[in-house]
Amino acid sequence: MLIAIPNVLSPEQVAHGRQILDAAEWIDGRVTAGQQSAQVKDNVQLPEGSPAARELGTMILQALSRNPLFLSAALPLHIFPPLFNKYSGGQSFGTHVDNAIRQVPGTNFRIRTDLSATLFFAPPEEYDGGELMVEDTYGTKSVKLPAGHMILYPATSLHHVRPVTRGARICSFFWMQSMIRDAGRRSLLFDMDQGIQRLARDLSDNPSANASAVQLTGVYHNLLRQWTEV
Ligand code: NI
Repeated sequence: MLIAIPNVLSPEQVAHGRQILDAAEWIDGRVTAGQQSAQVKDNVQLPEGSPAARELGTMILQALSRNPLFLSAALPLHIFPPLFNKYSGGQSFGTHVDNAIRQVPGTNFRIRTDLSATLFFAPPEEYDGGELMVEDTYGTKSVKLPAGHMILYPATSLHHVRPVTRGARICSFFWMQSMIRDAGRRSLLFDMDQGIQRLARDLSDNPSANASAVQLTGVYHNLLRQWTEV
């Protein structure tokens, strides 16, 4: 399941991010690639743990911790410190799969990558190409979102980034381990949570419907209790 999370960052936060990213030093993106993906990866990245990456990573993680749609969709347990990449001048990233396990740099802490995220810092009109292509069970999806928006997709999927033929595509990307390992269960909980919230909104002045919403919320939390791995 691919889920677009709109407005993770405000236009002011995107502008602040762009100031920092435009002034930052970029290095060859193959530093974080596995052996296989290094052969198809052609882009630049901010060095992991650089001051720019840390500052913007913190801004992103704070924004996500307050984003109800993200929390409902990802049910995150651990989030990898956000990385940043840039594609220009025909650069692309061929079809690959992300590593299942990522060690957080400078620690012994490892994250199982259940979900991948790409957060866009450049508006689509600033560059041509650069679509994130994700192979889903329903076919290949093409993703190119406004600045400040983020796509959440299964880390289990094959994906690639199409060549950027004009301008620059600047994004943050990272992975997360979900409290719910199984994608089917996670998707079911997401649908249920969204349905309950809509019900509660639509029928807020109906006491009987409210009681139903409370009962369904109980079922949601009890399923979460059954399935959570923390
Ligand atoms: Ni990837």
